[in-house]
Amino acid sequence: MREALVSLSAITRNVETLRAATGNVASMAIVKANGYGHGAVPAARAALAGGADWLGVADIDEALELRTAGIDAPLLAWLHDPHRDFSAAVAAKIDLGVSHLGELDRAAAASGNTFVQIKVDTGLGRHGADPREWAEIFDAAAAHQKAGRLIVRGLWSHLANASAASDAAQVEQFALALNAARAAGLSPEITHLAATAGALRVPAARFGLVRLGVGIYGLSPFDDEDSAGLGLIPAMELRATIVATKRVAAGTGVSYGHDYRAERETTLALVPIGYADGLPRQASGTGKVSIAGENFPVVGRIAMDQIVIDIGDAPVEAGAVAILFGDPANGVPAATDWANAADTINYDIVTGIGPRVQRRYRS
Ligand SMILES: Cc1ncc(COP(=O)(O)O)c(C=O)c1O
Repeated sequence: MREALVSLSAITRNVETLRAATGNVASMAIVKANGYGHGAVPAARAALAGGADWLGVADIDEALELRTAGIDAPLLAWLHDPHRDFSAAVAAKIDLGVSHLGELDRAAAASGNTFVQIKVDTGLGRHGADPREWAEIFDAAAAHQKAGRLIVRGLWSHLANASAASDAAQVEQFALALNAARAAGLSPEITHLAATAGALRVPAARFGLVRLGVGIYGLSPFDDEDSAGLGLIPAMELRATIVATKRVAAGTGVSYGHDYRAERETTLALVPIGYADGLPRQASGTGKVSIAGENFPVVGRIAMDQIVIDIGDAPVEAGAVAILFGDPANGVPAATDWANAADTINYDIVTGIGPRVQRRYRS
């Protein structure tokens, strides 16, 4: 057994908690990248049950997957191949995030009731119309709207989270973009800038809606505050059944390269999950795993399909369940612990859990 056990009620509760913490402003649950590894469709349903008003994904194909599953909630997709035909998305009532004039014109060319949300770059330096392009894209959007080719439903941007000063500057830029859009004759009913971090710590960035990603999965976007501090419950528990144990003598080398040698006679437990399943290889020798209520170190190099745990003299046998990470309130390692061990972020850990790991759901 190699599974990610996902608590859907945790996702629902996290949305409720985040909504309350953000003054019940409208929210968009971000379920891209297979719901941050949790399963897009179940995560979307759980988030909607918690009161999310919108769903957001990067790709149109991710959005269509939700529609195919019968989810008819308002839905935004914003990252498009330059040759992507928008007709299927429009037919499926998917709002199109548009970041430049070419995308806007292609959206206008799609037949049907086309809703767009114009993305502006307010300082992230990634996607979205640059301030020098605002007048042109807003004027073009107003012309398309007047001609009945599309409706501009939203205006939005994304924070860089570089510093409090940069967040404040982006809030100001966003207000300028909104003014410019209005001056061009647009009246976007939905305005959004903040993701989880901004929604919680930059009230001025909330505007009319917040986009909630990592927080709905119970993970903290902050270095200085953990899930529990935010009142969030990590939704994913990564588990695997120990396939073998082995008593070894002091000095025994473990795994490729023998980076680790047993300091004394000990028992090694083999857990069938490795870097092909998303465990970061960089956490070799530093990650921890919970077995029978105790945390033990991963020793030696993390391999493609398996890791070795030094369980000392613990009376653990094959068939016992090893918990790689879950809710630290239960005494198990957190996804964030693995992120720290691998010098990355918790987002990277949960989104990286591979397809060989079966997703199982509990309420
Ligand atoms: C445009 C956009 N909005 C919102 C989010 C959600 O961010 P978070 O998971 O930090 O809440 C992301 C995630 O990367 C994003 O790319």
